[in-house]
Amino acid sequence: MQTVGIIGGAGFIGSYVTRKFLSEGYDVRVPVRDLTKKERYDHLDQLENAVYHLDIVEMDVQDETALRDFLSGCDIVVHSGTPFQLAVEDPQRDLLDPPIRGTENFLKLAGEIPSLKKVVFVGSVASLNTAYPLPVPNRPADHVYTEADEPHHDADDHPYAQAKYYADQVVRQFVKTHPDLGFEVVSVYPTFVTGQSLSGRDDSSSMEMQYLFKNRLAPNPFVEMMFAKNVEFAMVSVVMWPRAFSGPRPPPGCTAGTTCSPTEATPYWTSR
Ligand SMILES: NC(=O)c1ccc[n+]([C@@H]2O[C@H](COP(=O)([O-])OP(=O)(O)OC[C@H]3O[C@@H](n4cnc5c(N)ncnc54)[C@H](OP(=O)(O)O)[C@@H]3O)[C@@H](O)[C@H]2O)c1
Repeated sequence: MQTVGIIGGAGFIGSYVTRKFLSEGYDVRVPVRDLTKKERYDHLDQLENAVYHLDIVEMDVQDETALRDFLSGCDIVVHSGTPFQLAVEDPQRDLLDPPIRGTENFLKLAGEIPSLKKVVFVGSVASLNTAYPLPVPNRPADHVYTEADEPHHDADDHPYAQAKYYADQVVRQFVKTHPDLGFEVVSVYPTFVTGQSLSGRDDSSSMEMQYLFKNRLAPNPFVEMMFAKNVEFAMVSVVMWPRAFSGPRPPPGCTAGTTCSPTEATPYWTSR
């Protein structure tokens, strides 16, 4: 039986990853930063196969010794363990250090784990464009990104986006300078992920943003970009299109079933 370590496996996205690997019959190891905060991970105990196949341990990716113990014996590791928080006290300590130092530590130790065959890093669309959800300056908004594109970084963009950019650069540099790795490295770059949480946790920004969207609030500049400004680049723009609108209430400015371009429609946040 293969062992998979899922760093961040009790978080919003990670809980789904944990559920999937457990249901596929893997032995799953999930670290949490504080074992005393049971309310952050006890939802995992309810998952199928958790009783015999789930091991929850305490570990912070910035702690090399704990990370080495965690990785030991893993065949696969999914690394989604970075804070997805937009409002923090100290951006360097709370947003930049955990993913950057954590990724450096991880890659340094991964080579020492003979069982390791595959590593999956959870990056972000922000790793490719720190200005997200705005397009990269000087590129057309409909530009289709491929691996040939140089990621866009601007030091004025949100620290969360910069943290994801720098952590991904650590991975890219490592892969470039280690051509003969004994394990495969894959990076995935999700855009904003939302939906139902498997836990009662509300500390992921995915939950925070759902609250802001539902209540038409956008106090954070990053969220505001997704919510209220430049809406043609944001996923919430779907509410502007009658064809995508299946409910009984059409967006203000449009009549259900008629053609109405986003610019003709009155954005609902201006109609309050
Ligand atoms: N949600 C999105 O829309 C979205 C979009 C693109 C990319 N992403 C990326 O996807 C990943 C997961 O996001 P999410 O929404 O699931 O966030 P989340 O709910 O906040 O989960 C983050 C997880 O990371 C763990 N973590 C944070 N700092 C850590 C550290 N220093 N050491 C070990 N673990 C640490 C947390 O551990 P505890 O369980 O101990 O708190 C938590 O389980 C992140 O890398 C995020 O950047 C998210």
